[in-house]
Amino acid sequence: MLQLQKNRVNLPPGMAPDKRAALHAAQRIEDSREAITTMMRSHYCGQLNESLDGQEITLCGWVHRRRDHGGVIFLDIRDREGLAQVVFDPDRAETFAAADRVRSEYVVKITGKVRLRPAGAGNANMASGAIEVLGYALEVLNEAETPPFPLNEYTDVGEETRLRYRFIDLRRPEMAAKLKLRSSITTSIRRYLDENGFLDVETPILTRATPEGARDYLVPSRTHAGSFFALPQSPQLFKQLLMVAGFDRYYQIAKCFRDEDLRADRQPEFTQIDIETSFLDEADIMGITEKMIRQLFKEVLNVEFADFPHMTFAEAMRRYGSDKPDLRIPLELVDVADQLQSVDFKVFSGPANDPKSRVAALRVPGGASMPRSRIDEYTKFVGIYGARGLAYIKVNQRANGVEGLQSPIVKNIPLDNLNVILDRVGAVDGDIVFFGADKAKIVSEALGALRIKLGHDFNLLTCEWAPMWVVDFPMFEESDDGSLTSLHHPFTSPSCSAAELEANPAVALSRAYDMVLNGTELGGGSIRIHDKGMQQAVFRVLGISEDEQQEKFGFLLDALKYGAPPHGGLAFGLDRLVMLMTGAQSIREVIAFPKTQSAACVMTQAPGVVDAKALRELHIRLREQPKAE
Ligand code: AMO
Ligand code: AMP
Repeated sequence: MLQLQKNRVNLPPGMAPDKRAALHAAQRIEDSREAITTMMRSHYCGQLNESLDGQEITLCGWVHRRRDHGGVIFLDIRDREGLAQVVFDPDRAETFAAADRVRSEYVVKITGKVRLRPAGAGNANMASGAIEVLGYALEVLNEAETPPFPLNEYTDVGEETRLRYRFIDLRRPEMAAKLKLRSSITTSIRRYLDENGFLDVETPILTRATPEGARDYLVPSRTHAGSFFALPQSPQLFKQLLMVAGFDRYYQIAKCFRDEDLRADRQPEFTQIDIETSFLDEADIMGITEKMIRQLFKEVLNVEFADFPHMTFAEAMRRYGSDKPDLRIPLELVDVADQLQSVDFKVFSGPANDPKSRVAALRVPGGASMPRSRIDEYTKFVGIYGARGLAYIKVNQRANGVEGLQSPIVKNIPLDNLNVILDRVGAVDGDIVFFGADKAKIVSEALGALRIKLGHDFNLLTCEWAPMWVVDFPMFEESDDGSLTSLHHPFTSPSCSAAELEANPAVALSRAYDMVLNGTELGGGSIRIHDKGMQQAVFRVLGISEDEQQEKFGFLLDALKYGAPPHGGLAFGLDRLVMLMTGAQSIREVIAFPKTQSAACVMTQAPGVVDAKALRELHIRLREQPKAE
């Protein structure tokens, strides 16, 4: 308590209420920190070090490992900050007997004295490895059954088991480290946004569909028979309405819900760092958010980024076959259709003469030595993306002309054209050049993905971090049935007039931008439409009738006619950000309680069956009764 008194700053009378509140809040946090460590424990295990030599301390935690070394018992005690070794010797008979009785994962309170470990007995893998605690007293706060998987000698346990007992899985230091890093990330971001005048405002979870391109999670209404809420795919429309309301700079760490096919970097329920501003243009917004990410990496990982390069969508697709290029990998796609228009090889000449197709080459330095089996593997790999083959040229000795090239296709291509192609890709002896020829989308996706795979397989990564912005996206993309859909969302502003947009929607560009890090789309946003006429023009291009516009977006159109300021923003995927910053392989590793690949929670068994009465109240009759559990 003495300590607390010392930290207190007297608030001068007459201080402005906001300043007073801020100071007071800071003090409360300080106080509660003290309270947390003084309640039962004096220190966290992982915080013990040489500076505490000789001091009496109290630890609260779980028994991580118990070893009996000929009359001396060693307990490794674990809490969220790490491990500490506690030694019990038979001198204190009662405590020794208690230490002898504990088992893995018992919850214990231990009082003892910190002492330096004898020379040679240190453990460099433990933060507190230079010291140990001589145990004076041990109280068992709770017993534990043998856990479903051991934590002291953790070997790969199936993910289903880990998720079923997530509360145990999260005790593992590497899992705790990820959640702690996640917390420092949100703290850093909140601080930055707060310091830059952003207000944290919550938006509804029970709402109407917010189109972001995925299927909605629906919630039946009891009070409105036959009607449903949708869980938000993002707070998009609400944050725009907050701009209309004059809030200027908004942020929220917001839960979003999307019922879509899951992948390693997608969850049905995920978190966005959602941002919206008024009276700023895209350069301002990219500037503010880039600075936020730069500061975050500096604070949390001590990594410094230079200014992020900007690249147009068109250039990204052309050079990397992707709208989220991984710039750590130096390989590039090179267009070669012009050299193949009149060759006697339909696989190439067909796409080379079709404006919707593409023929591209990808050179792999030093790749000529790869065996045929490897090429077959890569051919199979591009097949996933719809490619019907993967032509290649191994450049053995360019000086020998066609003889020096090993390839199933060179016989079909005149030497002059071959030379132009090889010069264009910069091929030298020892290289392999792969080719893709098909619809542009297939070639870009297939060679784009192959580029990433080759980059990793051949260890070509040139740096650890490659952040960038992709800009100048098209407004729309064409579906297979020829209709247009928004590439971002329908509230994104085009860079042309409404008349130009409606005259030629397929070529219109948008004022959207994506932040990409190491080939992952970290965040995306845009300047929004703030003009009702323009919003309706976009709806018309999307084939949304006047009635449907009113029914679904009447409130937005209303807002746009009552003084909507120019505005724009962006949203980062928090889970993906944490995934990259922790080096986790799956998004599930950085979420405390994630869903499985089939969008279920194996721990709580959600989604679950509900009883007939609840369904009746919700006015729902199931088409097929699920089998009794
Ligand atoms: P968008 O749909 O691009 O934009 O989403 C923004 C970011 O959210 C992350 N993300 C996901 N993360 C995990 N699981 C998912 N299923 C998932 N879906 C998206 C990505 C993505 O970059 N309202 C707009 C933002 C805006 O315009 O301001 C939006 O939601 O990292
Ligand atoms: P084929 O004439 O089918 O035996 O193919 C000759 C070579 O071209 C093989 O190496 C195929 O893998 C490759 N190939 C076939 N179709 C394509 C395509 N659409 N794009 C790139 N290479 C292809």
